[in-house]
Amino acid sequence: MRSLQPIGVFDSGVGGLTVVRHILERLPAERVVYLGDTANVPYGGRSPRELVYLGRTIIDFLVGQGAKVVVAACNTSSSVSLPLLRECYPVTLLDVISPGACDAVQATRNKRVGVLATQTTVSSRAYTRHIQALDPAVSVFEVPCPQFVPLVEAGLLDGVEVEAIAASYVRPLLRRDIDTLVLGCTHYPFLAPVLKRLVGEEVTLVDPAEGTVRRLQQVLAEQNIASERASVQAPHRFYATGATDSFYKVGGMVAGICTECIQRVNLFEGVANG
Ligand code: DGL
Repeated sequence: MRSLQPIGVFDSGVGGLTVVRHILERLPAERVVYLGDTANVPYGGRSPRELVYLGRTIIDFLVGQGAKVVVAACNTSSSVSLPLLRECYPVTLLDVISPGACDAVQATRNKRVGVLATQTTVSSRAYTRHIQALDPAVSVFEVPCPQFVPLVEAGLLDGVEVEAIAASYVRPLLRRDIDTLVLGCTHYPFLAPVLKRLVGEEVTLVDPAEGTVRRLQQVLAEQNIASERASVQAPHRFYATGATDSFYKVGGMVAGICTECIQRVNLFEGVANG
């Protein structure tokens, strides 16, 4: 029965756990099989060619693990490789950009939206395209944040250094008078308390994970593959292609993620730099 099969989720590292958190909260009967590509993190400066190669290898693995649908819980992959890979699989591949763009358009009152994302996501202009396709009157200001992913993977989520780096990314957006800020990388919700302090109450933070999980719920219903009750025999599974330290440091903060479930899997042997 397809309904009993897991939901595949992937990211370059622990960022996608911010999406898993919403899946576990909203869809408690579902099981997750997660892959964090810690052998190749960060994705944020990688080329489209590398991202397609990495994405294909990971999606093949998740489909091989029985995934009934796959969520690219990575904005970088969602913006660059997912559009090219979608047609290649029999299961639905969900991205995080279109739901995030949709929630940003709903949230903004003054039609000025900021986006924090990786360099590759910013260069793709995926958020600007998606937001302006929904409402051409919205101005979008995108800022690359290359230092955020290494901080989160190292478990550094707060403190003077983090705050100074975050301020340097956010200040130019505040000068643009944004009223909505999209956390356009799944690692960034781990930094939400710092970011919220910096932007204040006037600016709405949008975590694309929320819209993504609403979309996931719709897809499961439309395809009649939603699980009705959690299986005690089949726990969630978490895989890392490289170091697992970040899963212990950061993953442990996400309710429902048991650090004993984390296993290493060797998908890439000395690849992904070409
Ligand atoms: N968390 C990912 C994203 O949403 C990847 C970040 C990275 O590895 O640079 O883009």
